[in-house]
Amino acid sequence: MKPIQVGLLGLGTVGGGVYEVLRRNQEEIARRAGRGIEVAMVSRRDTAKAKAVVGDTARVVADPREIVRDPGVEIVVELIGGYELARELVLEAIAHGKHVVTANKALLAVHGTEIFEAAHRHGVMVAFEASVAGGIPIIKALREGLTANRIQWIAGIINGTTNFILSEMRDKGLDFDVVLKEAQRLGYAEADPTFDIEGVDAAHKAAIMSAIAFGIPVQFDKAYVEGITHLAATDIRYAEQLGYRIKLLGITRRREGKGVELRVHPTLVPARRLIANVEGAMNAVVVNGDAVGTTLYYGKGAGSEPTASAVIADLVDVTRLATSDPQHRVPHLAFQPGQMRDVSVLPMEDVVTGYYLRLRVADQAGVLARVATILADAGISIDALLQREADEVGGEGSTQTDLIILTHDAREGAMNAALAELQGLPSVLAPIVRIRKEELA
Ligand SMILES: NC(=O)c1ccc[n+]([C@@H]2O[C@H](COP(=O)([O-])OP(=O)(O)OC[C@H]3O[C@@H](n4cnc5c(N)ncnc54)[C@H](OP(=O)(O)O)[C@@H]3O)[C@@H](O)[C@H]2O)c1
Repeated sequence: MKPIQVGLLGLGTVGGGVYEVLRRNQEEIARRAGRGIEVAMVSRRDTAKAKAVVGDTARVVADPREIVRDPGVEIVVELIGGYELARELVLEAIAHGKHVVTANKALLAVHGTEIFEAAHRHGVMVAFEASVAGGIPIIKALREGLTANRIQWIAGIINGTTNFILSEMRDKGLDFDVVLKEAQRLGYAEADPTFDIEGVDAAHKAAIMSAIAFGIPVQFDKAYVEGITHLAATDIRYAEQLGYRIKLLGITRRREGKGVELRVHPTLVPARRLIANVEGAMNAVVVNGDAVGTTLYYGKGAGSEPTASAVIADLVDVTRLATSDPQHRVPHLAFQPGQMRDVSVLPMEDVVTGYYLRLRVADQAGVLARVATILADAGISIDALLQREADEVGGEGSTQTDLIILTHDAREGAMNAALAELQGLPSVLAPIVRIRKEELA
């Protein structure tokens, strides 16, 4: 059979990796796919650079629209990134009856519903394994491997840049700003790292996983998003003393009869959990299903060839399934299109989680009792407590100390009210630090 014809939109980090791995492993990949996979066209604004990569093995064009409109191209691989151009190209490819593979989480998080509806209407596939956790086949695991389960929750380290920064802060006891500069120098963080450090990239990926896990639309706009920019080295140290590590987690959880939680924020995780020990730029996702229990997926979340690995897995899937009846393919979002549920994402006020609190207080009698009473009145119970000696915190003769509290699970709304009251106490001397905590058992 003639090799299936592929067009690559973009030949940067991921596009270059896809071209190289397809070339290197072409025989093995064809044996798996049942036919060859051939890159027929590639696009890059700088066509000379593209030609230097592909030589005369593929047609090189500057305008990606040429690929989308070319009748010979059967699968379009979108590796340009961003929102508007990518959306336009993907929708046009679908309208021309082409299957699409993309690594673009931002696109799917924001325009996913429109794109999947268009794909369903035109009977084509949109595959997106590389959009979440790079080389880790988490989409496949959720959509196929775990299909017997009612997924209960997912928690993932799904942004390598922030995990690298947090690992460095813990290892070297340095503050966020210092480590960010170092990460930029080493190429672990972009010149404009906003999407990573503010948690937006992780929220894109969490929203996609949430849709697949629960059979609901992609609802990035409802996600609670908090990054790591305000995290202090002090809190990482105190968390460590209490047996926890702080990770930026993307979390989605089923709350029976109520809705789902969808949130990204720094989170205390027990140090003995495997995910707490995922260091540097690595990614990991923990999925809990009612039948299988807790499972863990670990690997490189970015990079040229790890991401290409995921893109090519999609290419093989699409090649295998291209001739099958659309009704019998694996559905894009794991659930059949007519079986999606309109389950709402809960407001942050209704999220239930544990908390780490750090209060800078006056070193005097009765403060702890007053704090404990306010928490108890709000229905929040204390799990562990750490009180530093004033001398340790503020030096000799200091009249201030830190009170560190871990709580059992509580509703965010109750915690907000208690924090407002605590913050008003004259003996509380600085803004209270609050970091959420998950046991992930
Ligand atoms: N890098 C990773 O490790 C990784 C991991 C997972 C997912 N992803 C996703 O994969 C996608 C691609 O990322 P990347 O890192 O490969 O990006 P990249 O290295 O910047 O490559 C982007 C490619 O698109 C082309 N391009 C950019 N703007 C264009 C425009 N307006 N018109 C035509 N072509 C344009 C660029 O070529 P010219 O500038 O020469 O035109 C380049 O070839 C993104 O959605 C990203 O989120 C990346």
